Amino acid sequence: MKTTPLSLLLVVAATLAAAPAALGRSINITGNGGWEAALARARHAVAQLDLAEKVNLTTGIGSVGRCEGTLGRVDKLGIPELCFQDGPTGVRASDFVTVFPAGVTTAATFNRDLFEARAEAMAAEFRAKGIHVLLGPVTGGPLGRSPYQGRNWEGFGADPFLVGEAAYRSVRGIQSQGVIATAKHFLVYEQETFRQLYAADDPWTLNPENNTVNTYSANVDDRTMHDLYLRPFQNAVRAGAGCIMCVYNQINGTQGCEAPAVIGGLLKDELDFQGFVVSDWSAVFNTTPAVNAGVDVIMPGGATTGGYRNQVGGPALLEAVRDGQVDEARVDDMVTRFLTQYYLRNQDKDYPAVNYKDGYMGTYLNGTRVNEHRNVQANHAAVARDINEEAITVVFNHKRALPLSKRSKVAIFGSDAATNPYGINGCEAWIGAGSNLCPGNRTTNGTNAMGWGSGAGYFPYLIDPAAGLQEHVRAVGSFETNFNDYDLTGENLAQIERFAQISDVALVFVQARSGEDSDRTSLALEANGDELIARVAAQNNNTIVVAHIVGPTYLDAVFDNENVSALVLPHLPGQESGNTLARVLYGDVNPSGKVPYSILRRDDASHYPNITRQSAADGTIPVDFTEGVFVDYRKFDRDGVTPLVHFGHGVSYTTFDFGATSAQAAPAGDYYPTEVPSSSNKKAPGGPNSLWEYVATVESSVSNTGSRDGKEVAQLYLSFPDSVKGVPKKQLAGFEKVHVAKGQTEKVAFQLTRRDFAIWSVEKQEYVVPDGEYTVRVGASADDDQLRSSAKLTMKDGRVSS
Ligand SMILES: *[C@@H]1O[C@H](CO)[C@@H](O)[C@H](O)[C@H]1NC(C)=O
Ligand SMILES: *[C@@H]1O[C@H](CO)[C@@H](O)[C@H](O)[C@H]1NC(C)=O
Ligand SMILES: *[C@@H]1O[C@H](CO)[C@@H](O)[C@H](O)[C@H]1NC(C)=O
Ligand SMILES: *[C@@H]1O[C@H](CO)[C@@H](O)[C@H](O)[C@H]1NC(C)=O
Ligand SMILES: *[C@@H]1O[C@H](CO)[C@@H](O)[C@H](O)[C@H]1NC(C)=O
Ligand SMILES: *[C@@H]1O[C@H](CO)[C@@H](O)[C@H](O)[C@H]1NC(C)=O
Ligand SMILES: *[C@@H]1O[C@H](CO)[C@@H](O)[C@H](O)[C@H]1NC(C)=O
Ligand SMILES: *[C@@H]1O[C@H](CO)[C@@H](O)[C@H](O)[C@H]1NC(C)=O
Ligand SMILES: *[C@@H]1O[C@H](CO)[C@@H](O)[C@H](O)[C@H]1NC(C)=O
Ligand SMILES: *[C@@H]1O[C@H](CO)[C@@H](O)[C@H](O)[C@H]1NC(C)=O
Repeated sequence: MKTTPLSLLLVVAATLAAAPAALGRSINITGNGGWEAALARARHAVAQLDLAEKVNLTTGIGSVGRCEGTLGRVDKLGIPELCFQDGPTGVRASDFVTVFPAGVTTAATFNRDLFEARAEAMAAEFRAKGIHVLLGPVTGGPLGRSPYQGRNWEGFGADPFLVGEAAYRSVRGIQSQGVIATAKHFLVYEQETFRQLYAADDPWTLNPENNTVNTYSANVDDRTMHDLYLRPFQNAVRAGAGCIMCVYNQINGTQGCEAPAVIGGLLKDELDFQGFVVSDWSAVFNTTPAVNAGVDVIMPGGATTGGYRNQVGGPALLEAVRDGQVDEARVDDMVTRFLTQYYLRNQDKDYPAVNYKDGYMGTYLNGTRVNEHRNVQANHAAVARDINEEAITVVFNHKRALPLSKRSKVAIFGSDAATNPYGINGCEAWIGAGSNLCPGNRTTNGTNAMGWGSGAGYFPYLIDPAAGLQEHVRAVGSFETNFNDYDLTGENLAQIERFAQISDVALVFVQARSGEDSDRTSLALEANGDELIARVAAQNNNTIVVAHIVGPTYLDAVFDNENVSALVLPHLPGQESGNTLARVLYGDVNPSGKVPYSILRRDDASHYPNITRQSAADGTIPVDFTEGVFVDYRKFDRDGVTPLVHFGHGVSYTTFDFGATSAQAAPAGDYYPTEVPSSSNKKAPGGPNSLWEYVATVESSVSNTGSRDGKEVAQLYLSFPDSVKGVPKKQLAGFEKVHVAKGQTEKVAFQLTRRDFAIWSVEKQEYVVPDGEYTVRVGASADDDQLRSSAKLTMKDGRVSS
């Protein structure tokens, strides 16, 4: 073995030190995609600023600001303290706002117009409160790799195509109001446990080993990154998302907000992202690597001491520039990226001043009350109701148990049917002392209408199921339904049994809940829900189970009980829970919701990827994404496991049938829409334009064969040619929700882009479309037995060949 001369070693070391930057340091904004005019204004503004003023626009001022994140102001340009606020379900930690249905609920509608309507209504509230940047939508971070991840419900289900469509429409809806959307969390943030270092001053830090050195590392291969986790962000960037949030966790051993390969490389270079990157709150540990990797705004920031632990950015950034660790040109780009969005959305003109204070009880700033309590709800409750009515998912409905007869005697059981005894907002951590009363301090009690943490809102009111059902009965007047007979505690078994016995229908309400910083520890129903169901069903052979669940939950006991005649999943409905449920149960609305994930039997649960709950011997916390691109039904298909509830499943009060499916080449030159048009096939916001060209059109039809008008979701699953190995057996590549009158047939058409046929080539470092014969199948869920209508398509050189 040759000895290496010392000088050579030094050269090698120097090269290695420079390597991460070369792998993808932050790159400058170009304004590509139609943002040139806003960029010119931003450049003009930046040219007038000194370094301290620039730094003010890159770092939060902590809790002395009014908002969850507040930037320092720049008087010279008349730029006020700019305001960032959670989150994906509505304005968090403020009052007189709407709590919308959660992401998972919205996804269950499979209705793009509702995705957008929700975002528009929500952003109108943010704008009216004076908020500039909305910290949502959750864009597949998490995606739902593991059902134990406590935040999956904030996002749009466990499929990158569905999430991509929802993220696209959400970004568009938010930004239509002049509010900047934040696609988050970038990237591969699939568990809460060990996401942060242990902090003694933060009792909620989920770090079971008091680990003060390591966050977990999501270890993900290049292909999985590109074919699964990156895809929804491609949609968000193509929709023109102004902001993207980086993550708490490490990616391949580097802190996510300090990883040049991720922020500079994947996002700013490959996806040609022209907006700005904000750090998740306290996700930056070191100023220089974060800034050089591409973080543009550091939150909550260390510009002033705000009680936060990471005093990064602000003075530390000034120092890094003075020390030559960060180029001032990088700071210019940070500010330019931010101000481009500010001018693009006309936030310098007629934008409402901030008129609330973040924090439910925290309406005090410096000892003074500073909340104008502006009511911004308008008619947004109607949007929330529309979403619930299309999201409520009937999983099975034997013997036509539903809709409920208007003349039956109904009993209601389960604390999930009623209001939280501690108050509708009583268990949110920020409420203060109140939360200590709640079980486990952080969980809800009473009906499960949203999860907790930054994806939560502050209920202005909450129509719980018992109230909604009673009001429904009262309003119609002529019903003989009897609600006197119910027990909401789930505790008095003798009473439960008696009331179950004497009722025509027994409604049992159960739940599974989770939230930020709280991975699920079990997939079973809370509070012994299985037992409550069994007790009631033993006495009543028309038992209907309503389960408010955050994601995959063991429901075997529901399916296997001969006396359970129907199962209903309203997901997390927000403030309009009970009245919308009543309209579906009583048949005023024909259900059309679909579960946006698969549910396995308890015996098959080992097929779910678990999260990592222990550190390795060397102190690292590896989360190895060994399942690769095989998540949810992709994995269960591969493993040969038949889910109890298939992805995309949900029944109606009518029946549907699918007609023949045909496929042909799409006319050339027609593209998936974009808010940032660029004709480049090399580099364009959201990825090369050629990826987004429509290459195939698939047509099918849906017939309503039952006796009621209704809506069905036609779902298209694409299968690669047999010769292509290592790919899922099928993947969602289209969905269309159609209203079909009874006895009628409606056509459905799907447009498939080149991206739908593409696979990331690690070797070529680009997407390639394998030649060969593809199969498209159209039907009512991912259940292969439901996908009987199919067509073939031959691809050659990335186009359909006839
Ligand atoms: C960004 O632009 C500045 C000039 O404004 C230049 O000095 C710098 O090298 C550029 N950075 C990159 C990564 O291209
Ligand atoms: C930075 O922002 C703070 C908070 O808004 C403000 O008090 C201060 O004057 C600003 N500094 C500069 C240099 O503009
Ligand atoms: C966690 O570790 C820190 C730092 O070593 C220590 O101060 C703190 O007391 C520990 N907390 C617990 C709950 O063990
Ligand atoms: C992470 O590591 C895997 C395996 O070495 C590699 O394929 C992938 O490109 C890396 N990704 C990033 C973003 O560093
Ligand atoms: C808060 O009060 C302190 C001390 O009275 C004062 O120095 C500071 O400027 C005040 N901050 C704000 C945001 O009003
Ligand atoms: C809730 O928090 C309080 C105060 O922080 C603590 O004393 C109590 O033990 C906690 N209760 C539970 C159930 O964790
Ligand atoms: C609600 O709280 C009570 C009292 O702490 C508890 O017994 C019950 O199990 C809780 N219900 C649910 C659904 O968690
Ligand atoms: C179903 O209900 C009938 C009464 O209608 C009861 O006899 C039977 O035991 C119940 N079955 C179960 C599994 O509870
Ligand atoms: C269901 O229960 C009702 C009322 O107790 C009874 O009349 C009916 O026969 C039962 N049906 C079956 C299939 O057990
Ligand atoms: C996941 O891990 C938890 C904690 O170790 C364990 O209780 C659970 O059974 C695991 N789940 C599955 C499906 O393997």
